[in-house]
Amino acid sequence: MFIGEGPGAEEDRQGLPFVGPAGELLTKIIEAIGLTREEVYIANIVKCRPPQNRDPHEDEAAACRSFLERQVEFVRPRVIVALGRVAAQNLLDSKAPLGRLRGNWHSFKGVPVRATYHPAALLRNASWKRPTWEDMQVVRDRLRE
Ligand code: URA
Ligand code: URA
Repeated sequence: MFIGEGPGAEEDRQGLPFVGPAGELLTKIIEAIGLTREEVYIANIVKCRPPQNRDPHEDEAAACRSFLERQVEFVRPRVIVALGRVAAQNLLDSKAPLGRLRGNWHSFKGVPVRATYHPAALLRNASWKRPTWEDMQVVRDRLRE
């Protein structure tokens, strides 16, 4: 299961997660570890688009929390990948920077969680692609166990 931040403009139009430019890159990331989009579940911390794509506020994330928890309970994913700082901090209830949340296994409702960069961030800064690939290899290895 991949968890992002919240719908962007295209996601808001279609009512589906990660169907815009960041979604195209996410599809490639998923396929790079030998999976297809049909084999993974994709969700967001907040279910409505924050105006001007600002970070979701704490009360907004809190309002969507029970939906996210039920998505995880229904899907029962083997691994969760938190995409970006907002997803990682919300999921792990932490204020630590992404750089500190990356590189270790965490847990959400008993499901192992790995944090990595958000695909939209990779579109802005290609130097984060290599560490993201390293994170995804760790995820792939875990799924092979
Ligand atoms: N960015 C996100 O965090 N989620 C989406 O669904 C699309 C872009
Ligand atoms: N499939 C997904 O991967 N995510 C949804 O939110 C709905 C269907």
